Amino acid sequence: MQPLKGLILSGGKGTRLRPITHTSAKQLVPVANKPVLFYAIEAMAQAGIDQVGIIIAPETGDEVRYAAGDGSRFGVRLTYILQEQPAGLAHAALTAEPFLGDSPFVMYLGDNLLQGGIEDLVVAFTEHEPDALILLTPVPDPENYGVAELSDGAVVHLVEKPSAPRTDLALVGVYMFTSCVHDAARAIEPSARGELEITDAIQRLVDDGRRVEPHIVKGWWKDTGRLDDMLAANRLVLDTIQTRLEGELIDTQLDGRVVIERGARLERSAVRGPAIIGAGARLTDCYVGPYTAVGEGCEISGAEVEHSILLAGSAVRDLGRMESSLLGRNVKVGRDRRQPRAYRFMVGDNSEIGIP
Ligand code: TTP
Repeated sequence: MQPLKGLILSGGKGTRLRPITHTSAKQLVPVANKPVLFYAIEAMAQAGIDQVGIIIAPETGDEVRYAAGDGSRFGVRLTYILQEQPAGLAHAALTAEPFLGDSPFVMYLGDNLLQGGIEDLVVAFTEHEPDALILLTPVPDPENYGVAELSDGAVVHLVEKPSAPRTDLALVGVYMFTSCVHDAARAIEPSARGELEITDAIQRLVDDGRRVEPHIVKGWWKDTGRLDDMLAANRLVLDTIQTRLEGELIDTQLDGRVVIERGARLERSAVRGPAIIGAGARLTDCYVGPYTAVGEGCEISGAEVEHSILLAGSAVRDLGRMESSLLGRNVKVGRDRRQPRAYRFMVGDNSEIGIP
């Protein structure tokens, strides 16, 4: 078998994560202060995959390229592949055909997180040599996912968001293919939403008599496409951190597992882990509660923040309590003492503000 290549999908529209995605790629939103995309690249490196293609969109491609670079810091070689339109996951695989050639490959959705990496499926794929291997996980609400039906240890039918699901096995955003998937992707028509669907391409493989092997995921899997999922992914990853203290603590109390990065300064504050405080952050007279990731250079003063993600340069001042929130870069939230007393906002399109 030819060496495996990797393909990470980091294009798309990201409509469900607006307004963050108006200005930034959703794959670069940090989970425990590390872009979601980097977890996928690290999983590739860990599985010994050297050549990794990254699908990028025209709007966010440069930012993704700047963040991940040539891949040397991850121990892989990255090639960026521009997909002009977000025309579907199967379209993304077709767009990458010149890079992939005849090689088998792992396709990984760049906004997905898979605990435990991809080594076990690479081993299964190499040993069993199916035409495709798809990852599945039981979910309580299969009607919201692409769902697979199995028979005699093989995938026989795939349905996208079925109204009456016949199994609870949802497709996880990681797939392994041989190059025959390209012909399958060429043979299908766009779906009702105008995309070349990967489920249709896989169904085509099945219908052509190809062997599609199921692989049930053991650990957790998260698609970070929506705010709640992003916060859940942040929780899951923060649950695995170990205490590391590199910043400065003055009259500050830490409980549980907490990471304080270099140059951060905490004064008269309390942090209850699991939580991570980014480099150069300033925390004064505040409380940071469990499952919070405070980005680089953020400032929190006179406020309580819990179960939230703050991107670099954001500030929360004199606020009372904020939770289950995602703040973009350089966002300022705080009490305004001017008269008359009123809420004063300057927020971008599609923002959401909740006031008790
Ligand atoms: P999705 O989350 O299914 O699609 P999306 O990014 O357009 O988001 P939304 O539904 O909120 O509008 O995409 C899964 C991953 O695949 C994500 O990392 C984006 C990427 N992708 C591409 O690279 N090209 C595409 O054509 C599509 C549809 C997605």
